Amino acid sequence: MKAAVRYYTKTGNTKRLAEAIARAIGTEALPLESPIQEPVDVLFLGNSYYAFSIDPEVRTFIQSLDNAKVGRIVNFGSAAMLNSTWKKVKVEADKVRIHLDDREFHCKGEFKGIHKGRPNEKDLAAAAAFAKTIMSEGSGGKTK
Ligand SMILES: Cc1cc2nc3c(=O)[nH]c(=O)nc-3n(C[C@H](O)[C@H](O)[C@H](O)COP(=O)(O)O)c2cc1C
Repeated sequence: MKAAVRYYTKTGNTKRLAEAIARAIGTEALPLESPIQEPVDVLFLGNSYYAFSIDPEVRTFIQSLDNAKVGRIVNFGSAAMLNSTWKKVKVEADKVRIHLDDREFHCKGEFKGIHKGRPNEKDLAAAAAFAKTIMSEGSGGKTK
């Protein structure tokens, strides 16, 4: 099963999660400026909340995806207060007809002194384990 990892970050937290995921599954974590060129079964997409929404760059990136090249998206990220960007990402993924896996990885992310050090080593290990689980299932994928 082939996978790619892309992330959007403002303060580095999502990048750290992306790198832990990429390392665990033997690929590279790249920013959104790197388009998906080769077809992948799974696109791990890292993003966060900024002022209660995902960044417009994340929306633009999802809109640029070709559903013939991306089997499904798996969301991951962190936030200071809110739980998950999954619903926001789902709206965009639906527009380009790419399945968003029901499962995702989410943890607390440091913001202005809140949740200091998060994602921490434990979060990074959990993100890596999550990605390995997704990859161990084969290209069919299982959703909740
Ligand atoms: C400009 C800005 C706005 C933010 N707004 C929110 C928000 O509305 N809700 C929330 O839960 N976290 C918010 N956060 C916290 C981030 O989601 C959190 O710090 C996350 O880990 C940042 O990931 P990044 O370092 O990859 O950008 C905000 C952070 C920044 C920098």
